[in-house]
Amino acid sequence: ALIQDFGRTVVAWQRQHGRHTLPWQNTRDPYRVWLSEIMLQQTQVSTVLGYYERFLARWPAVTDLAAATLDEVLAQWAGLGYYSRARNLHACARAVAELHGGQFPSTAAGLQTLPGIGRSTAAAIAAFCFGERVAILDGNVKRVLGRVLAFDGDLASSAAEKRLWDRATELLPAEAVDRYTQGLMDLGATVCTPRSPNCLLCPVQSLCAAQQGGDPTRFPIKTRK
Ligand code: ADE
Repeated sequence: ALIQDFGRTVVAWQRQHGRHTLPWQNTRDPYRVWLSEIMLQQTQVSTVLGYYERFLARWPAVTDLAAATLDEVLAQWAGLGYYSRARNLHACARAVAELHGGQFPSTAAGLQTLPGIGRSTAAAIAAFCFGERVAILDGNVKRVLGRVLAFDGDLASSAAEKRLWDRATELLPAEAVDRYTQGLMDLGATVCTPRSPNCLLCPVQSLCAAQQGGDPTRFPIKTRK
């Protein structure tokens, strides 16, 4: 029952208290969702907003981005940092244009074959755009699930990380995985924050093993790699 309660509670909370008006929400266009997910990987929402709008204004479709030069993409990216993301962005657009007829693959497994799209980003795009029932596990979600489960593995270890992926998959709700995925991201960004989580506002407080144990910030455990 914990698994069912968790998923349903996150979904209901996202409906009432999650973010709904970000420009990459309310679309199932994989190009738009992909662009937002890559930009948001190491950059906060407030910074991404302007870049996102300018990229879409200049390159409205993935085939437009594929036709740009790398230098044009790097110049448009200037200021966002982590420039390997821009190189991969361009390579990915070209791969979609040339290898996939201009259409993003419609499964997480297919998306993960593309440059710059790792397991969690592939899953986010597949859940948001195609409703695929797959787990994400980005930095924020590692923290949320690490706490809910009082996960005792050290995430510096790839074996422990693999176990957390398995637990994340077990926790997936039967339905509404798109809203659930957004709900986990929203919880991590607004409630289950790194240093002082706002457990009093948390919808899954009563299900959270770390909170029940008294010190949610002990989790997840991560020694230096
Ligand atoms: N960070 C990563 N993906 C996000 C999304 N879809 N909405 C808000 N923040 C995010």
